[in-house]
Amino acid sequence: MPPNRPDARRWYSGIRFRVTLTASSVVALMLLASGITLVVLLQQSLIASLDAAATDRAQTVASLVAGGDLGPTVTNTGSESSLVQVVDSSNSVVAATSSIDGQEPILAQPPSGGVTTVLSLDRMPAGDGPFRVVAAPVRLPTGSGWVYVATSTLQVDAAVGNLAALFGVGLPLVLLIVVWALWRAVGQVIRPVDAIRRRASSIGGEDLSQRVPVPERSDEIASLAVTMNEMLERLEGAALRQRQFVGDASHELRSPLAALQVQVEVALAHPEDPGSALILEDVHGQVVRMSALIADLLFLARSAEGAPRRATSLVDLDDLVLSEMQRLRELGGRAVELDGVRAARVEGSERDLARLLRNLGDNARDHARSLVSIRLTTTEKWAEFSVTDDGDGIRAEDRDRVFERFTRLDDARSRTVRGGGAGVGLSIVRQIVRDHHGTITIEDRPDGQAGAVFLVRLPLALNGGPFHS
Ligand SMILES: Nc1ncnc2c1ncn2[C@@H]1O[C@H](COP(=O)(O)OP(=O)(O)OP(=O)(O)O)[C@@H](O)[C@H]1O
Ligand SMILES: [Mg+2]
Repeated sequence: MPPNRPDARRWYSGIRFRVTLTASSVVALMLLASGITLVVLLQQSLIASLDAAATDRAQTVASLVAGGDLGPTVTNTGSESSLVQVVDSSNSVVAATSSIDGQEPILAQPPSGGVTTVLSLDRMPAGDGPFRVVAAPVRLPTGSGWVYVATSTLQVDAAVGNLAALFGVGLPLVLLIVVWALWRAVGQVIRPVDAIRRRASSIGGEDLSQRVPVPERSDEIASLAVTMNEMLERLEGAALRQRQFVGDASHELRSPLAALQVQVEVALAHPEDPGSALILEDVHGQVVRMSALIADLLFLARSAEGAPRRATSLVDLDDLVLSEMQRLRELGGRAVELDGVRAARVEGSERDLARLLRNLGDNARDHARSLVSIRLTTTEKWAEFSVTDDGDGIRAEDRDRVFERFTRLDDARSRTVRGGGAGVGLSIVRQIVRDHHGTITIEDRPDGQAGAVFLVRLPLALNGGPFHS
């Protein structure tokens, strides 16, 4: 099996994998970014509140000092755990909380600038660090000094560490759930595609009656399935029409061939019979008719295949009309009258247009009682060509179907001068009219008499004609 066949598709090259991977990567990035942001924000806000509390404490101690109410030991109130020192201008400790009584000053040097300063300290002789230290200037009875308030950040670090650990375990779990949900959801979305593909691959040229399954949801995949089914319906219709055409064509050719065979066999059996010459004449007539029929069938088959259009040129329709009238008159049997002819130039295939006129002329002659009348007029943009006869006409309900291949309206057939054709003439006419961007309609005679009027409208070759539009 070639590697690019869908069946050979690897699991990691499918839409399902790619969508899941892309979406989960985005989710993973978002989770990571929000996790980091949360941890950093938490740490910053905890440190900020630690600093605020320490600053408060420094100010309280400073006001005690300023009021002369401070002894050598600073007492902690309530749950405060900060370490406090008051130092004089030479950085000697003059008061401290009991836990660091007698210890070195927290800062080896007071901060410069004489304003309240907050800084971090990694280690200190007393207590477990790291610390945040607030140093606030204070006025001592002996001169200026500083209050140092040191608070351990261990608890903050522990809280932040806990949150980070929680995220470290929780976020990958969330990601796993997201990946699983995406894999399932995308799998559900594309499952119908696989069903459609499997069915489509089993539909062969012989059996076009199958249809791909249409999912119940009304999404893009459902409309793709509907479109595919419509296409299959059209293909099935085309295949059916083609089979019908081949069947009808074979049927049309079989009867005259069988008749020919009999006639030739009779002539062969009695070569000396003078009737053989007559038979040969008859055979010749039939062969001519069959060749014409085969030419007609070929024309239809080619146009059904969408064959490229014949070479086109500017054609004087009035010339074609006059020669057709001449031809009908020469055939005799019916009066042929010209009910007006105007110069009309159209663009197209002269051969096809002559064939169009000939088919309509033959039909009119076949069905007329006594008179065929031809007319060519023009409007601003159209050449209007009509062939009228005084036969039985065509009933309104038959006016579409006579243009179908092999359609013959039975009782009309028995009356034709030529003894009936194959029923392809008008379908050829319709095809030629379409090729020339025109229209054809069957109408009643304007004078109310019995008979048929075939009216063909073709665009005049103005401004380069329809083939240049
Ligand atoms: N002028 C007309 N008046 C009455 N019926 C007509 C006329 N022209 C065509 N028809 C009917 O339409 C049918 C189809 O015409 P069409 O020209 O396609 O076939 P055909 O003349 O029977 O055979 P072919 O043209 O292939 O030799 C005819 O069999 C006939 O019944
Ligand atoms: Mg005909």
